[in-house]
Amino acid sequence: MAKPKTLYICQSCGFQSLKWLGRCPNCEEWNSLAEERISDQPGARREWQVLGSGESPHPITDIQLNGKDRLLCGIEEFDRVLGGGIVLGSVILIGGDPGIGKSTLLLQVLNGLANQGLKVLYVSGEESATQTKMRAERLGIRGRDLLVLCETSVDSVLQNIRETEPRVVVIDSIQTIFSPELQSAAGSISQVRETSNRIIHTAKSTALSVLLIGHVTKDGAIAGPRVLEHMVDTVLYFEGDTGHSYRILRAVKNRFGSTNEIGVFEMRDAGLEEVSSPSEIFLAERPSNASGSVVVPSVEGTRPVLVELQGLVTKSFLAMPRRTTTGVDYHRVAILVAVLEKKIGLNLFDQDIFLNVAGGIKVTEPGADLGMVAAIASSFRDRPVAERTVLFGEVGLGGEVRAVAQAESRVKESTKMGFSRCLLPKANLERIKPSKEMELVGVRSVAETMKILF
Ligand code: TYD
Ligand code: MG
Repeated sequence: MAKPKTLYICQSCGFQSLKWLGRCPNCEEWNSLAEERISDQPGARREWQVLGSGESPHPITDIQLNGKDRLLCGIEEFDRVLGGGIVLGSVILIGGDPGIGKSTLLLQVLNGLANQGLKVLYVSGEESATQTKMRAERLGIRGRDLLVLCETSVDSVLQNIRETEPRVVVIDSIQTIFSPELQSAAGSISQVRETSNRIIHTAKSTALSVLLIGHVTKDGAIAGPRVLEHMVDTVLYFEGDTGHSYRILRAVKNRFGSTNEIGVFEMRDAGLEEVSSPSEIFLAERPSNASGSVVVPSVEGTRPVLVELQGLVTKSFLAMPRRTTTGVDYHRVAILVAVLEKKIGLNLFDQDIFLNVAGGIKVTEPGADLGMVAAIASSFRDRPVAERTVLFGEVGLGGEVRAVAQAESRVKESTKMGFSRCLLPKANLERIKPSKEMELVGVRSVAETMKILF
């Protein structure tokens, strides 16, 4: 009998080594190599097959679309994040912190599909059937088309899929599913790679759509395999503070739609509820006429959302003044602070600067730059920004204000939320139709913006 071979495999990137190393030379992660037994059985790699059936190439114009290639679950926020429903045969990975509501969300999604008479399957490797039932009771789910299977072996999961032929399957979670052919523990990189590969292969060859739930590590990436993100069609993150009841579903990779699209939900007693006007909730507790508070129409994916940025600048008593941010990029703030110092002449070097996005949402797009600059300057000078004013624009290192995407929809959303003045990049202004309710002010530089605001 052949001696079982063991390898040390990096749990974060899949790098293989014959001996243990403290740091992965490939992805430079510390302490990420784990010992895994590799079986030489021929079956282990059997499912690494290619899509299709050895056909010859044909012109793209000859490939037929049948129109009905997406399934809508009826939860609009979810369907929109996916770019208009679940694509048949696609594989979607959803990551998020424990307890954030992944299982709840997907059970509700399946319920929406089952209510249309589609047969769907929920595979739980984490909870028993009765626990799933208890959750379903809470969510008011009772349909005979939603099947539940508590199973952790990939072979019997696939066999059950072949027997019941559901249209959509949820695997909760991919880290609990294992293949007995591999000797490493469930959740290890070889197991996750092997099991997801087999599931993905089944999906692609039968037009079955699969939603995989993935655990996340403490620094927020989907646990174990980065490789998993490459294998699937769509990667969604479900995020939010457990302290707030709002949850945000974000697409970070999508082969069939826009990325950075977000869906907003609220966790209630009876499950997740859609929030169709997120601007309202993010502005709900805004203080009036407070210095440092600025409203920015930020665009996430295809939808503008008004968010409140809060800056606080106070005299520092530390040798290294503090720069603390939540919800915005720390490095971006450092750059903007430097621009304020150099171009506007604000003496921020001995000030502690805090910048925060209210409501637990993250803002990652450049259009928020001008708002961040204004929030910091407003707090520093202790002069509030006029209450009905919003502003957006990208700030360059020369202190210039640059055009951003989707200016028109930002203005529209701000008008809808009752704002009456909008400062925007001059280059954007020319293409926007003026309206009675909104005064549009084009700005070229940060200096000009400061003059208008304060
Ligand atoms: P869950 O979906 O189990 O999270 P995950 O699968 O991401 O680990 O959600 C668990 C949390 O959601 C739990 O703290 C209780 C809360 N919750 C509600 O507030 N209302 C509900 O109707 C449900 C089902 C859960
Ligand atoms: Mg769960």
